Amino acid sequence: MKELKFYVMTDPHFYETSLGASGPEYDDFMRYEQKCYAETESINRSVAEYLKGADEADIILIVGDLSFNGEKESHRSFVKLLKEIEESGKKVYVVTADHDCQEHPFAFGEKGRYEPEGTPRDELFDIYYEFGFKDAIAVDRQHLSYVAQLGEGVRLLALNNDGADDGRRRFDEKHCQWIREQIRKAKEDGQMMIAMNHYPLLPLQPLFSIISSTVQKEPMNAIELLADEGVNLVFTGHMHCQSINEVTTKKGNKLYDVCTGSIIADPAYIRLVTVKDENTVDIKSIPTPDFEWDTDGRSCKQYLTDMFNNMILNILYDMKYDTERMMRKFHIEDKKALRPVIYLIGCLLNSITLGGFSRLFWIKCHKSIRKIKVMDFAAELVRGAFVGNQQMKEGTPEGDVLLAFLKRINPVLKRINLKNVYGERVDLFELLKHTAGNYGTDDYNAVLTLR
Ligand SMILES: [Fe+2]
Ligand SMILES: [Fe+2]
Repeated sequence: MKELKFYVMTDPHFYETSLGASGPEYDDFMRYEQKCYAETESINRSVAEYLKGADEADIILIVGDLSFNGEKESHRSFVKLLKEIEESGKKVYVVTADHDCQEHPFAFGEKGRYEPEGTPRDELFDIYYEFGFKDAIAVDRQHLSYVAQLGEGVRLLALNNDGADDGRRRFDEKHCQWIREQIRKAKEDGQMMIAMNHYPLLPLQPLFSIISSTVQKEPMNAIELLADEGVNLVFTGHMHCQSINEVTTKKGNKLYDVCTGSIIADPAYIRLVTVKDENTVDIKSIPTPDFEWDTDGRSCKQYLTDMFNNMILNILYDMKYDTERMMRKFHIEDKKALRPVIYLIGCLLNSITLGGFSRLFWIKCHKSIRKIKVMDFAAELVRGAFVGNQQMKEGTPEGDVLLAFLKRINPVLKRINLKNVYGERVDLFELLKHTAGNYGTDDYNAVLTLR
């Protein structure tokens, strides 16, 4: 095979601004939102301009959640943008995902929240026909999946997972059969095959291994299906996380899951991928370019970071000052017994510093971080799980205080019986330690050895 280069981006969540994105209801909605909304058109345009002029590669993969929430107008405008990219000499391959076929999207117009026209899943094949299906060498129409020849010796298995007979976020038996056939066919033809699939197959952080909605359903079946048949690399999105993870199946085959952050949310990155040979793939991360927006004097990067932090800080703030609102947002308003617990935790988080917190638990805290509010520390901890290459490890003041705290409460953690998405009991201490600090593959730049 010949060396092949391509860009990967995901979760562009394009929103047609003329549908409306302002007003008090919009502001209220954005209070708990990690991703941009009104800004997405501008961000997508700046990424498109970058890709049009980028000379490292002519192929672009987009791993789903193309529209904000399935608004028909957003799809129409996004397709226009993709056409512009292709007119510059690039080739675009997309898959659609959960946010692309919502039949009841919402927008914020002059009179407040309303429902613009949505997009039934059936229409997505025609809408995105030119960006994958048209040049495909095999198509599974029901499952909106296809195989494309990306370059000499390399094929792309582009998978959608919202068309199963029995629910979303999974491959049904018919889909699995089609996938198996396509991988075997690629092998017969002497082709290397890589995949893109919106939902991660591996938990992006150990913490996500106990939250089933963050990964594909029955993930081990999907992993074994791909890796044991011969696909060792999959590009994913959905979680708006930068993360690279690997697993080895019982039969001894590796699968790398390279999840890329959304271009419209912190951490906003695209990837440049070089398939050097059947066994070696080089991954580089490129921050998304600056976009036209009134950022109040901040850099675009800082603007996105602030949006992420504000979401977490607003939730933590509301735990104390507007507990009902916070509970409504997470659909737990009927769990009245939880209210005082949430309120108490909110009071603690909102008032105490790391120094005070450490005294409370009899643990050491380096003087350089004693004045940091626990609330800001918690926000940084959560953000780290999405940004990747988390720094809270042994030997750093933040890592040391967190690990000392986890050790202190470990007798309690040990009594909590929690299972992960593979049905295994988890060690909560290890899970939290490895979520606060990244001890595995670099999440940004790495050379992957597939076999
Ligand atoms: Fe998304
Ligand atoms: Fe998604």
